[in-house]
Amino acid sequence: MQYISVIGSGTMGNGIAHTFAQFGFEVSLVDIDDAALTKAMATIGSNLDRQLKKDTITEADKMHILNRITTFTDLADGVHRADLVVEAATENEEIKLALFKELDKSCPHHTIFASNTSSISITKIASVTQRPENVIGMHFMNPVPVMKLVEVIKGYSTSTTTTNSVIALSNKIDKVSIEVNDYPGFVANRILMPMINEAIYTLFEGVADVEAIDAVMKLGMAHPMGPLQLADFIGLDVCLAILRVLHDGFGNPKYAPCPLLVNMVMAGKLGRKAGQGFYTY
Ligand SMILES: NC(=O)c1ccc[n+]([C@@H]2O[C@H](COP(=O)([O-])OP(=O)(O)OC[C@H]3O[C@@H](n4cnc5c(N)ncnc54)[C@H](O)[C@@H]3O)[C@@H](O)[C@H]2O)c1
Repeated sequence: MQYISVIGSGTMGNGIAHTFAQFGFEVSLVDIDDAALTKAMATIGSNLDRQLKKDTITEADKMHILNRITTFTDLADGVHRADLVVEAATENEEIKLALFKELDKSCPHHTIFASNTSSISITKIASVTQRPENVIGMHFMNPVPVMKLVEVIKGYSTSTTTTNSVIALSNKIDKVSIEVNDYPGFVANRILMPMINEAIYTLFEGVADVEAIDAVMKLGMAHPMGPLQLADFIGLDVCLAILRVLHDGFGNPKYAPCPLLVNMVMAGKLGRKAGQGFYTY
């Protein structure tokens, strides 16, 4: 594998492009929004400056990494040479299914399609393509250049060849891949989101305030960040969307989102990106 196309240049897409370019891959970064691409390249530049200051890369490395990334607003132009596509567009089923139909037409036959989705079924995404055996989940964690884990999600039809290629590739970019099967929330969010939801219920029922709940989990459970702060960082709208996928997918009331979370999302208090969530930013 040599050419990697990353679709979506937001929070996750810029980190995924940065990481592949750092390990010597040619990267095309595609977004429908030109301003998002400009912002992504600026973010990658400032994240590389941080690595420079820590002496983990040289000035020459920085230039090489930036030169390996080319940006595109036209999907077909961006992906026609791709060995692997990593899709990191907005978490919306309609957008992703339309994108994968287009990718199927525009990419070479051998291209592997990976989605970075937090919760949408890989099997469903694969079903809109003519190559379901080549479709897999590559769930990177934020911030991508720093976090070690890639949750590798095998859809119903994903082939062993595809899975092995993606695991080998994850090793090449210094990540640790963990294989899981395609059920709602996979593993990471199936465990994380009920904990965050329970923390919100604990606040909702007046058991303790925001700072106290986070302090208990940080000091008592050695979590680097409390669950309410983490929810703010992920985005409360994203947390709500994932809980709804778990609730719908399993039909189990234990995944029902806390009414306080629903209200905060309706009020636009989406966390750090909105300047206000459980904390003020
Ligand atoms: N934010 C996180 O912490 C996190 C962690 C793991 C996985 N994810 C997943 O990664 C994906 C991206 O999340 P994000 O937080 O980076 O979102 P984001 O909103 O920061 O970025 C999404 C980008 O996709 C672009 N986009 C939308 N439709 C497109 C299309 N048809 N073609 C090309 N680009 C398109 C948007 O313009 C935007 O720049 C989602 O599936 C999300 O669930 C997010």
